[in-house]
Amino acid sequence: MIILGIETSCDETGVALCSNFEILSSYTKTQSIHQQYGGVVPEIASREHEKYLPSITDKVLKEANKNFQDIDAIAVTNGPGLMGSLLSGISFAKGIAQALSIPIIPINHLEAHLNSVFIEHEKLEAPFINLLVSGGHTQLWLVKNMFEYDLLGETLDDACGEAFDKGAKKMNLNYPGGPEIEKLAKNGDRNLINFPRPMINDNSFNFSFSGLKTALINCVDKDKYGFEDIAASYQEAIVDTLINKFEKAMIQFSAKSGIICGGVAANKRLREKLDKLDQKIIYPSMKYCTDNADMIAFLAEHKFKNNKVNFEKDFSAYSRGMITE
Ligand code: KG4
Ligand code: ZN
Repeated sequence: MIILGIETSCDETGVALCSNFEILSSYTKTQSIHQQYGGVVPEIASREHEKYLPSITDKVLKEANKNFQDIDAIAVTNGPGLMGSLLSGISFAKGIAQALSIPIIPINHLEAHLNSVFIEHEKLEAPFINLLVSGGHTQLWLVKNMFEYDLLGETLDDACGEAFDKGAKKMNLNYPGGPEIEKLAKNGDRNLINFPRPMINDNSFNFSFSGLKTALINCVDKDKYGFEDIAASYQEAIVDTLINKFEKAMIQFSAKSGIICGGVAANKRLREKLDKLDQKIIYPSMKYCTDNADMIAFLAEHKFKNNKVNFEKDFSAYSRGMITE
């Protein structure tokens, strides 16, 4: 069967074709228009999705040498995410499904992220721990199997990507802030400023980054240290906090491996320190760490073939929400 996947939960417009668990073709358009505003502007994001979905879909079909009549089902992200962005993708997907009289499969964005590792590692042994670190999420999951997951902990306030972005903004750096801080940190002293490592001594698997962000703001305002040293020490604090909980979870649940995904997974200092752990760490390709439609179409095919799809057409978007059956 051939599934067309659509992903528009934030500022990436993704379209992919999946058949027999192989990605035939895919394209992800990152909306660079938001850079000038220092963050994602929801209304602009919705319009950009609506504007480009038709041409991206044509491109993806052409690349796989397929046409609309070859599609057996449509999969679309319906939450969590930005409401307007999600609705742009859902409306487009529903139009195609209706016109072709084919089923439409709503997919939870987080569940797709958790399973995206199987696209490249078909035979990955469970249980494993998945650390999802993006601009909107910081979550630690125990994956017992496909369709079987426990949320061990998550951020109680800002996501760690947000901590990078807001920290960068305070230092007048560009958006997204993560790569900017990483660049600046290269020439800084990561041990100079002792930023807090929030919640590393409690027993939960939760995170908190807003206090750390406030510490950075105060530090910049004091005007005592250079930005390179601040960036290096701040990055080190975020990385240490993530690794502390990630490693504890892997040990506690006897995980066979640890997976890291989300935009922050690109961070080289994070990878350098993860490599030093006495654990097997898997880094999915960057295109599968960030938002993409491949993971939407791929999970939809698994759900379809395991009779886990609710074929109800009257679904809509939700901005927040966990994985439900
Ligand atoms: O998963 P993602 O591309 O988009 C969503 O949030 O949905 O993640 C974007 C986040 C941003 O906060 C960005 O600053 C961060 O990932 N990021 C990084 C790096 N590259 C992207 N953070 C730290 N180091 C990086 N190299
Ligand atoms: Zn995402």
